[in-house]
Amino acid sequence: MNILLIGSGGREHALAWALSASPLLSRLYCAPGNAGIAEVAECVPIQAMDFDALVAFAKEKKIDFAVIASDPPLVGGLWDRMEAAGIRATGPGEAAAILEGSKGFVKDLCREIGIPSAAYGRFRTAAEAKAFAHTIGLPVVVKADGLAAGKGVIIAENEAEAGKAIDFMFEGGFGDSGHEVVIEEFMDGEEASFFALSDGEHVIPLAGAQDHKRAFDGDKGPNTGGMGAYSPAPVLPPALETVAMERFIKPTVAAMGAKGRPYQGVIYLGLMITKDGPKLVEYNCRFGDPECQVLMVRLKSDLLTALLAARDGILNTIDLRWRDDAALTVAMASKGYPGTYEKGHPITGLAEAAKLPGITIFHAGTTRRDSEILATGGRVLSVTATGQNVAEAQARAYAAVDRIHWDGAFCRRDIGWRAIGRERR
Ligand code: AMP
Ligand code: GLY
Repeated sequence: MNILLIGSGGREHALAWALSASPLLSRLYCAPGNAGIAEVAECVPIQAMDFDALVAFAKEKKIDFAVIASDPPLVGGLWDRMEAAGIRATGPGEAAAILEGSKGFVKDLCREIGIPSAAYGRFRTAAEAKAFAHTIGLPVVVKADGLAAGKGVIIAENEAEAGKAIDFMFEGGFGDSGHEVVIEEFMDGEEASFFALSDGEHVIPLAGAQDHKRAFDGDKGPNTGGMGAYSPAPVLPPALETVAMERFIKPTVAAMGAKGRPYQGVIYLGLMITKDGPKLVEYNCRFGDPECQVLMVRLKSDLLTALLAARDGILNTIDLRWRDDAALTVAMASKGYPGTYEKGHPITGLAEAAKLPGITIFHAGTTRRDSEILATGGRVLSVTATGQNVAEAQARAYAAVDRIHWDGAFCRRDIGWRAIGRERR
């Protein structure tokens, strides 16, 4: 089969790596890809939001299946465009991607079908949003309804901050995403993610993971796309994984089908483990980045077969196998990320680091220039390790990180701290 993968980050490198091992694969293309992906796929310079060019390329190269990895093209309807052109693709389609595309939609759905989540209100004017925020206690969570590249959530410690956040969103601070604002009660607890695959009718579990969203050690500093992750997540023992499937994901997929929005594809469930049990933080319509990296190195079964089964409505025939090993990934980023950062510094030590036991290095923001690999993204590398437990995977990942250098590189040194604390108990 000829496969077109769409995207360019560490998640996409991990997907390319897994797809490239499939016995079903003839040719793997990636648009636009990066220097790491180019080692396992043929990269083509088409951006993920250039739907016309992607569809034209897919037709020209007789693509059998398109793997759409990130939320902007999914929420924007690339699946629908591909399928209309006769090219099978990983969903969800635009109608179902609303699960990530509108926070208000998800909150209403939770209320309707009894999924535990924070109290909330949806608003179209600043005055009403502020009046509601005043009633809900502090801190208060202010969210732009639509996609905002992971930046659309502000946790306000007092009313003045909440007011500023509300005004910022309605004044277009997050563009069109803020035309509606959701105000939520703050949930206290530990976050974890759980992933599943749906064909619209059948749903199979993938695995759990825990991300580290803040930029600096000790969960300090600004929110990022994710500075590291590990899987499995001890905060989600098997009993809670069952709850995630039975109380959250299966009822959601059933409700989406009943609403005429059949959900096909990866479901990312963001949970807050509170003292009253797990509650929904968010749904995403794709794998997480960097959670995907740790899932892919643990997956023993063929990813492509599973994604095709989700597209074709036969997930009931799939039984995925996972390594018992733990996996942990450390994001190496360029100084300044998640704000502005320098680009173009050459990276050294990659080959040496890749030879260490249990290591797979996924590229997130890199470009090749002759024989050199340059750091060109905010998150640059996802240094990923497997081990018998999270502690071993962490030690291996940092041994590899320590061999890799470029001007202005930084990473967190404490990825996995919660899990390792639990392993020691
Ligand atoms: P989201 O974009 O919905 O994932 O929100 C981004 C981050 O904001 C989440 O990963 C949480 O850390 C935090 N967050 C969102 N909603 C809440 C809430 N109701 N209570 C506490 N933290 C939240
Ligand atoms: N790592 C968080 C996300 O992909 O949304």
